[in-house]
Amino acid sequence: MPISKTAVLCFHITIAALMVGPSVAQDAPAGKQAEVERGKKLFDQCAACHSVDPKVNDMPGPNLHGVVGRKAGKQPGFAYSDALSAKNFRWTAEKLDQFLKDPSEFAPGTAMAFSGLKNDADRQAVINYLKTVGSPKIERSRKNSDLPAK
Ligand code: HEC
Repeated sequence: MPISKTAVLCFHITIAALMVGPSVAQDAPAGKQAEVERGKKLFDQCAACHSVDPKVNDMPGPNLHGVVGRKAGKQPGFAYSDALSAKNFRWTAEKLDQFLKDPSEFAPGTAMAFSGLKNDADRQAVINYLKTVGSPKIERSRKNSDLPAK
């Protein structure tokens, strides 16, 4: 019995759905992507002191590659203030939100000379951008010897 045209068509649609399905699910929705772009632009005001390129470690502030999920105040080779090095937590979106709103209120005595991002949506956009720049896994697998001694 010859395979009907409808059956072939159905088969193709199924395959197409299988191929398209998972990748669509993984892609950030358009709105989220726009927010990340906005966060990247807002990060310009942090970029005077911070780099997100894991190879750049000669900035006034610690490298922020993979900072979301990373231990606070513990980047090897960076001389933190006591205010941050004494902290014992990992940077979550919530902690970053509190810190970036008012750094010296969150960590009195911090060496981060930045008055804070007062706009809630701006902080959220910057944090969403930071989530896209590296993962703590990459950070942990990097050898301390890759960093210049300070
Ligand atoms: C004038 C320089 C400067 C600016 C501008 C600045 N920072 Fe910082 N930042 C620092 C310094 C210095 C530290 C280390 C603070 C300490 O040791 O107390 C720091 C620490 C941090 C940390 C903690 C990192 C860690 O390893 O625990 C985060 C997160 C951070 N900054 C994010 C930002 C973001 C996001 C912005 C922009 C909205 C920003 N900073 C703007 C200088 C700056």
